[in-house]
Parts: sequence; structure tokens; C-alpha cells
Amino acid sequence: MDVLVAQITDCHIRCDDKGAFSSLVDTSARLAAVVEHLEGLDPQPDVVLATGDVTDDGTPEQYAWFREILEPLASPLLPFPGNHDHGLAFRTAFADLLPGGLPERHCSYVVDDHPVRLVGIDTAKPEHHDGCFDDERADWLDGTLAAAPDRPTLVFTHFPPVRVGLDYMDVAGLTGADLFEEVVATHPQVALVVAGHLHRPIQAVVGSALLSVCPSTGFQLDLDLNPARGGAVDEPPGFQLHRWDGERFITHTGMVRKGRRLDITGYVRDVLGRAQRGEGFPKG
Ligand SMILES: [Fe+2]
Ligand SMILES: [Fe+2]
Repeated sequence: MDVLVAQITDCHIRCDDKGAFSSLVDTSARLAAVVEHLEGLDPQPDVVLATGDVTDDGTPEQYAWFREILEPLASPLLPFPGNHDHGLAFRTAFADLLPGGLPERHCSYVVDDHPVRLVGIDTAKPEHHDGCFDDERADWLDGTLAAAPDRPTLVFTHFPPVRVGLDYMDVAGLTGADLFEEVVATHPQVALVVAGHLHRPIQAVVGSALLSVCPSTGFQLDLDLNPARGGAVDEPPGFQLHRWDGERFITHTGMVRKGRRLDITGYVRDVLGRAQRGEGFPKG
């Protein structure tokens, strides 16, 4: 059975223009454009995952504004914290969407309503900008995955558990990344791990699963692997669609920008008609 998971991340919503990246982009306008794009999708996503840094400073006002921008979305929202969020304010802002019985020290939770199990492991470290996967989180993830070994599973988190070559992000990245990979490798039902934080679309392998890092809805980090340099760029806002087709996940990366569109519906009809009639696809 198909499941369509949309992922947005690193929205960095503010209510003013006083942020470090405010001179580069208007993160609210950009998130609104992504929401409009998601609204137009057919089929609609079964859920929309927001994998952290949903706000820039984690204030109640920023969470309220974030929720207002997302108001038009028809799909249920699964909010998740990042290092720019604030633990208590986050839990308060999304109290109606988060499941009960959350662990005290991290906001990890499971959604079991779909043919694919969605397991969120909170890797944000309170009061820090680096991430943390300690023994307590490892026990939670290991125990949660061990409870349903036969169900295909998507694990979501904020910090990707790999070094990616953007040195300034790697050195302030996830402590315990090796342990994270060890736990995932022990549970081969994990078909996909998705993360954010890096403000770029990036893929790697973790255990036997694909790791997909989603681009930001606000701004991206410059693709420059020189260890002494770094930049934020106004590349288009992005999102990902993770489609479970019953056997595997297919991950699509969407970039949202106003541009020209050529309608090729006639071509689509022709291809589908040829396939149906068994005519093949000869040139000319
Ligand atoms: Fe971020
Ligand atoms: Fe982050």
C-alpha cells in the first residue's frame, strides 16, 4: 500500500527581519510558497514531516506564526524539533499534535497509523547548537525499533548521523553518529532515514538504509567543500516527497520557484496510450 510522506525542514521562521539570514531571504514568504506548492499536489501527502529548526529562535510568537503559515495544509503535520527550536516552547506550541507520553529529556515519538512506521528520534541537545545521540536515545530507538521488526520503517531526525564534508557543520554536528548507525544497522526494517539541519539535499547510506537530507524551505548552504569557507545562498526553497510503494521508498526533491512551465499533458496521454496499446516507443 502506498504512503506519501512530504518533508519540510529548517524553515527558520521569525516574526521580524532581525535574524542572521534576514538580509538574504524572507523565510516566511518562502515557507508560504512551499505550502502553496504542497497544497497543489495530487495525490496529497498522507503526512507532512517538519524535521526541525521550524523557528529561528524558538519563541511562542514564532511557533504561532509558523502554524499560521501552515494553516492551509490539508495533510496532518508531524512537528519535530531542531537546534534552533526550544524544547518547552516547542512542546507547548504543538501540544495538540504531539502524542502523549513523550520521554522527558527528548521529544522522540512514533506514528503507527500508516503501512510504514514513522519513528522520530530527537537528536537536538538542549541549549546547544550541536546534536546528541547518547545512550538514553540509543536505548529508546533500539527498543522502539525492536518492538516492530517486521514493519517497514522510516526514521526521522534533525541531525544527519554522518559527516558530509561541510566541515563547519560536521564539527558542530551529531555526537554519537556511529552509535546511531549501529542501532539502525541492527534493525534492517529501517528502509529510510530522513534528516535536515544541513540546508542542502544530500544522500548517504546509514546501516543498510538510505539517508536523505532535505533542503531548507528558507535558504540553502553554499555547496563549497573548502574547509575554510562557508556561505548561505538564496537557492530556491526545497522539500522532499518520500513515496513508499509497498516495497521501497523513492525520494523526490522538489525546488519551488516561480518559473516558466510548458504543459506536456498531450505527450503524457500519447505515452500512456502507446503503453496501453503495446505499441512501444519508436523514434520519429
Ligand atoms: Fe537549520
Ligand atoms: Fe539545525
